[in-house]
Amino acid sequence: MRLQTSTWPEIETYLEHSDGIIVPIGSTEQHGPNGMLGTDAICPETIAFGVAESIEILVAPTLSIGQAHHHLGFPGTIALRPSTMMAVLVDMVRSLYRHGFRHVYFLNGHGGNVATVNSAFQEIYAQSSFDEIGLSDLRLKLCNWYMTESVGRISKELFGDQEGSHATPSEVSLTFYAYPDEVKDASMSPTIAPIGAIRDADDYRAQFADGRIGSNPALATVAAGERLFRACVSDVITDYREFMST
Ligand code: NI
Repeated sequence: MRLQTSTWPEIETYLEHSDGIIVPIGSTEQHGPNGMLGTDAICPETIAFGVAESIEILVAPTLSIGQAHHHLGFPGTIALRPSTMMAVLVDMVRSLYRHGFRHVYFLNGHGGNVATVNSAFQEIYAQSSFDEIGLSDLRLKLCNWYMTESVGRISKELFGDQEGSHATPSEVSLTFYAYPDEVKDASMSPTIAPIGAIRDADDYRAQFADGRIGSNPALATVAAGERLFRACVSDVITDYREFMST
């Protein structure tokens, strides 16, 4: 069930038997020579829609712009600074809480979001601790799809030391599975990208000339994406059910 194609009476009915919602969260940022700018949003959104085909769950609109200032040296990247993103997340959760949602499960596709999302969770809980609003029955969870057990196992099997950490063959494969008409072909030089620390946008572009970090996304295929998709959907269903029991 998708929030954006539901009516408010349908949401009201849903809330009579579930207070859970899954929020795909990603980024709009460069993903190397063959990776789509929307990769980090497309991946969790595709998985969330897959989960919704198997179990009764409501999927929120994807938060597709994230903490990606370090990719601003590449055209097409759109970024929120951490403080802006935290404000967005607080308002999203407070909106959902007002309607009766008590379990908000963020399915994330971008490593750069992790610290900011966790800080936003603490900001929200702090509002309750400081008696600004009672939120003691609110449960928040962050799940990074690329770190689920089966995805880690399959990506290691398929791509080994060419997985890297940005513009990975796993995430590019998943976008190719989601959008097979948009599969891109590009040569990679060097074959495996360099690794290093992430600082500001100019420094990033100087270190990582084509945008990749440690990866070889030329290995990406639709078939690999389908395998990762099916395994991750299964992992997320298990994880979501456990979260709902808390
Ligand atoms: Ni990514």
